Amino acid sequence: MRSEPLLELDGIDAGYGGAQVLFGLSFAVRAGEVVTLMGRNGMGKTTALRTLFGLLPATAGRILINGRDMTGAPPHRIAAAGLGYVPEGRQIFPRLTVMENLVATARPGTGRGWTLERVLALFPRLGERAHNMGPQLSGGEQQMLAIGRALMTNPDLLVLDEATEGLAPVVRADIWRALAALRAEGLAILVVDKNLDALLRLADRHVVMEAGRLAWSGTTAELKADPTLATRFLEV
Ligand SMILES: Nc1ncnc2c1ncn2[C@@H]1O[C@H](COP(=O)(O)OP(=O)(O)OP(=O)(O)O)[C@@H](O)[C@H]1O
Ligand SMILES: [Mg+2]
Repeated sequence: MRSEPLLELDGIDAGYGGAQVLFGLSFAVRAGEVVTLMGRNGMGKTTALRTLFGLLPATAGRILINGRDMTGAPPHRIAAAGLGYVPEGRQIFPRLTVMENLVATARPGTGRGWTLERVLALFPRLGERAHNMGPQLSGGEQQMLAIGRALMTNPDLLVLDEATEGLAPVVRADIWRALAALRAEGLAILVVDKNLDALLRLADRHVVMEAGRLAWSGTTAELKADPTLATRFLEV
């Protein structure tokens, strides 16, 4: 018997006030899978993730987590259901230290067992900056902190919006290495980023959006096999 997807979006409509942005968006992520959400600027990737996390209402469709209907649930319930969010722009708590950021939203594990110790082993830089306040950190350190904070909720699925945006190349490489390590231990990941090569190396499957709709989805092998896809949906 095949298990339920960890996450399923089914026919989601959403938008801002009267402006509809998502039109019947459907895709799924299974346990242990790494899936990308791709598309040019303004196609609705962030809107999809904000809707998923209960920050925007879905005006149609359903959001299922482990088969349970979570449509309309507030962000803390989405987190409690097993989704960890690394939002666009990091959004770390500016008045808290690194350590305080990590524990502020922490939640005991459902088996993955993320602790402060393990997060600091994944990102040693955070240990060196333990008592610094959020705004004193570099962009890369802030992103490590945002990822560490999400891991401290012991998610089954880690969701990252613009995983490496605005970071120096060496720091980007650190983030991709960390995500590969998380993948290797079986964590499911849903990731938005602009670096196609890095996404192709990391992910199993890809979901491509155009104008708020699902434009294409398939495996890394399928995406690599059709170079016209990148031209049609991804390149500016
Ligand atoms: N707060 C907002 N109020 C009104 N419209 C918005 C708001 N945020 C985004 N939009 C619009 O929704 C559409 C989708 O934007 P969204 O940020 O989801 O795209 P994206 O795929 O994440 O783009 P990017 O790659 O630039 O991050 C765009 O037309 C954008 O102008
Ligand atoms: Mg975005």
